Amino acid sequence: MDTKVWKVDNRDNIEAYKEAASLLKQGEVVAFPTETVYGLGANALDDEAVRKIFQAKQRPADNPLIVHVASDGQWRTRVRAIPDYAEILIERFWPGPLTLILPMIDGALSPVVTAGLPTAGFRMPDHPAALRLIAEAGVPIAAPSANRSGKPSPTRAEHVLDDLYGRIAGILDGGSTGIGVESTVVDATGKRPVILRPGGYSIEQLREWVPVDEKRSVYARDDAVYGEEDSGAMPPRSPGMKYRHYSTEGELFVVYGTSEARIHYIKKQAAERQSAGQRVGILTFDENRNEYPAGEVLSLGPANDLTVAGRRLYDSLRLFDARGVQAIWAEAIPEEGVGVALMNRLLKAAGGRAIRLDT
Ligand code: TXA
Ligand code: MG
Repeated sequence: MDTKVWKVDNRDNIEAYKEAASLLKQGEVVAFPTETVYGLGANALDDEAVRKIFQAKQRPADNPLIVHVASDGQWRTRVRAIPDYAEILIERFWPGPLTLILPMIDGALSPVVTAGLPTAGFRMPDHPAALRLIAEAGVPIAAPSANRSGKPSPTRAEHVLDDLYGRIAGILDGGSTGIGVESTVVDATGKRPVILRPGGYSIEQLREWVPVDEKRSVYARDDAVYGEEDSGAMPPRSPGMKYRHYSTEGELFVVYGTSEARIHYIKKQAAERQSAGQRVGILTFDENRNEYPAGEVLSLGPANDLTVAGRRLYDSLRLFDARGVQAIWAEAIPEEGVGVALMNRLLKAAGGRAIRLDT
């Protein structure tokens, strides 16, 4: 398949949107930028079209997709109930990196989108290209992140093309995405909102407006619920969270501890691997950038401004792959604000390989 690339910027680009929307209406899949990561879209009402997303990404069929909307009408008519707290969240945080899981009216979307669940995840992205494409298509657009299943999510059009060139009908290239980590997924089917996946909006931001059920919510480590002894408090997980995600080709380790301890440990480990003939990678922050004399060293920016880290995390993981790195050590990201979501993704990428030097 020929994959079309349309550059979109702040100007009109009328033809690009028309062509992309018309392919969506014909049942093809098209990638587009959002404020979080690139999405791979298809008409959420068309079974065959949605199946193409799963095929292109090689995504397991039991992992439901988020439905992207550009207007109220595209989702309100499809849900059975909207709790008051969900109305507050929508008022306050849409458009933006928030996905709400709501009880769906039977048959309101293709069952392929929801993997047969009675609920559906909706989100109104805060990106002009995404909103325009969805509005032009005139249907709700099912879209997971536009990466091959298991790989880091794409934050630039090149990432999408690396993974999916020849497998999708086209991509709107809107440059780098702003936030760089996916939306916060909130279960809005119960009495109180539960965070199923930390993301672009922090728990602190949501908590300011609604009574988040913090006991059942997921933080950086979603294999452990806070208050581990009480395993009865396990929240109903987002189905997608059980799969291998964001993986690098090389073995990745996350290192916790004081800055000094981390530097010392990583330098020693990296030197050992290098003398065994391996290529090594180190993911650090600007403050420690010059502490590492050898290897592929990438910085996530200043440790006290994680907006930069968000924009760089997935790109860095992909860069390590491109450079053939066989072992990577990543300094732990401060778990504050969006750092909770970034650590959640980093720990997943590491498949749980965490090293704690402070205990
Ligand atoms: O920022 C984002 O959310 C990006 C952009 C493209 O919008 N999309 C994204 O989609 O990250 P995806 O498919 O990579 O992740 C969707 C997550 C998965 O963990 C999935 O299991 C969960 O949302 N999800 C979708 N529908 C659900 C439902 N009905 N119940 C529970 N979890 C659901
Ligand atoms: Mg994804």
